[in-house]
Amino acid sequence: MKLKHLILAAIAPTLVAGTGLAYAQFKKPEDAIKYRQSAFTVMANSFGKIAAVVKGEAPFNKDEVAKNAAVVAMISTLPWQAFGPGTEGGNALPGVWSDNAKFKAAGEKMQLAVASLNTAAQSGDQEAIKKAFGAAGATCKGCHDDFKKK
Ligand code: HEC
Repeated sequence: MKLKHLILAAIAPTLVAGTGLAYAQFKKPEDAIKYRQSAFTVMANSFGKIAAVVKGEAPFNKDEVAKNAAVVAMISTLPWQAFGPGTEGGNALPGVWSDNAKFKAAGEKMQLAVASLNTAAQSGDQEAIKKAFGAAGATCKGCHDDFKKK
């Protein structure tokens, strides 16, 4: 695959989710719920590994942080397509659907924040990583406070 195609393949899901024109098709609502919960779980796993480094609980390894930040940035594009109409449930609050514009905006804010975290991580600048991590973490919490059951 040419690099250009790779890049297009990587950003396509963001564009789809961003326009709101198309949702991935799931056979049953439970499949969509499982898909988005799985994506969040994978993303949180890598995010948590960066958290441990930022908190000083794990040693700083530039390549590891860069790898985990890339996973977070990549997976951050996935959950949204599984919040389509008729997929209410899981631990998502009804506001996801009744206040969908706000939910989408929060999702986009998070994707931008983790993209910045990824940029910082690839640079290896620990101060920049710390800052970007804090900002990204705030976008997770912000959305969970409004749209996720405790
Ligand atoms: C725009 C809103 C939004 C943002 C931003 C967001 N989340 Fe979530 N998250 C949700 C919702 C809604 C659920 C509940 C999904 C469900 O159960 O159907 C959830 C669920 C989760 C779960 C539980 C998955 C499971 O197995 O049930 C984890 C872990 C998680 N999010 C981590 C994160 C992390 C880490 C970030 C930031 C890097 C983040 N989320 C950003 C809305 C968001």
